[in-house]
Amino acid sequence: MNKIKIGGMITLMAAFTLISCHKMDHGNQTTARAVVEKSFSTPIAIPMVMDAKNASFAAKTNTATIGGQSLKTLSYGNGGILGPTLKINQGDMMNLVFSNQLSEPTNIHWHGLEAPSSQDGYPTDLTQAGNSYTYNFRVTNRPGTYWYHPHPDMATASQAYRGLAGFYIVSSPEEQALKLPAGNFDVPLVIQDKRLTGGLEYNPDAEDQTIGFFGESILVNGTPGAVMDVEKRTYRFRLLNGSNARIYNFALSDGIKFKLIGSDGGLLDAPVDVSNILLAPGERADVLINFGSMPLSTELFMESALFSGSSSQGNQSFKVMKFKIIKDATDNFIVPSTLMAVEKISESSSVASRKFNIGHMMVHGGMEGVMHPIDGKTFDANRRDEVVKSGSVEIWEFDNTTGTEIHPMHLHGLQFQVLSRKGGRGSIQAWEKGWKDTVLAFPGEKVKIIIRFPANNGKFVFHCHNLEHEDAGMMLNFEIQ
Ligand code: C2O
Ligand code: CU
Ligand code: CU
Repeated sequence: MNKIKIGGMITLMAAFTLISCHKMDHGNQTTARAVVEKSFSTPIAIPMVMDAKNASFAAKTNTATIGGQSLKTLSYGNGGILGPTLKINQGDMMNLVFSNQLSEPTNIHWHGLEAPSSQDGYPTDLTQAGNSYTYNFRVTNRPGTYWYHPHPDMATASQAYRGLAGFYIVSSPEEQALKLPAGNFDVPLVIQDKRLTGGLEYNPDAEDQTIGFFGESILVNGTPGAVMDVEKRTYRFRLLNGSNARIYNFALSDGIKFKLIGSDGGLLDAPVDVSNILLAPGERADVLINFGSMPLSTELFMESALFSGSSSQGNQSFKVMKFKIIKDATDNFIVPSTLMAVEKISESSSVASRKFNIGHMMVHGGMEGVMHPIDGKTFDANRRDEVVKSGSVEIWEFDNTTGTEIHPMHLHGLQFQVLSRKGGRGSIQAWEKGWKDTVLAFPGEKVKIIIRFPANNGKFVFHCHNLEHEDAGMMLNFEIQ
């Protein structure tokens, strides 16, 4: 399979093969581009809401002013960057008429949803430029924060980076009965790093293809240097790491604690007090922050704190956005002591185990450039890598023991549970205790997950959600039969 898609890349790749070899031979590890903090004075944008039962939008190219610069962006719908927040109740049919007004093929993947294979944005299942496609399926997922983004083979990183992504929020009467902060007090926040100095072009070099494409600017909902005015009350924030490769260790200034209430697959069984949440690309966490006891005009930052485990990331702490308390409020909200039952999949119900080595060295050379394999294989749409039975339970292990890179592993079309982590951090983190669709393995870590395959027969992918790794082959197929 020919892995080169952009004419201009060929010479670039030939040139950097040497650089990669050199780096590998000497075991040198490069680091993520440093973040440059802004002044935190631009009001945060909140994406518009669209009813997923009756939705339509187009992927298009726009010119948008971001951080004072006019940039070429992609968006779903209204121009600017990103797309509307789709909302639906659990059990309802979604209906979205999607048109592709880009000049390249694209598709939409419903990250975290139990979508049928034909609707899931399989990498070669594309809507050509100028064409339309209707996404139509019943949303069975638990209430929670999901998201959507393009998924064309070898172009996911490029299209998502240039602006194509949006939230997908599922609710239910059971969730609404918990009376969690709603309306203006339920705020989705997608955190992404971009190279604003590069005009938002996606042009990874060898180093970017190895560790990921990092930007110096942190955008929240498309806003660099974002500030949000808040009232003295509790808010629900839905954090989504929508970056190509950057990991954030979210914390509040001065180590203020907050409550974790949800993970990738919706609400946890009970709230947990945390002072930080480490999210890799693709992962989400729902949190409650209580500004009630803070004096008016207090300024508080959401930051990314230092973390260890990888030589390429975590060695810089930086501010992500600012909250400013501007208004008194009467808030009768009481944090519920229990949220929503998380059914534990029992290990004894597992009928098979599979192991995947994600710690291989890069394959590189010739026309192929930098490649990231799983078990020595890179993505091939025509291959069936794993065949599983609908309704059956399996235990999968992602082994990054010998690796030097960070790999957030993601399975399409389902939610799983994390069973264990050996090596590295050595344990399951607070935000990994509910349902998950993406799990991070640092170098040195071996992570086991338990999966019950849904009754959606067909072919799906699983891959590393570092989008540079994904596009460089770190993706295999599983077929549900
Ligand atoms: Cu957000 Cu294939 O994933
Ligand atoms: Cu996905
Ligand atoms: Cu990876």
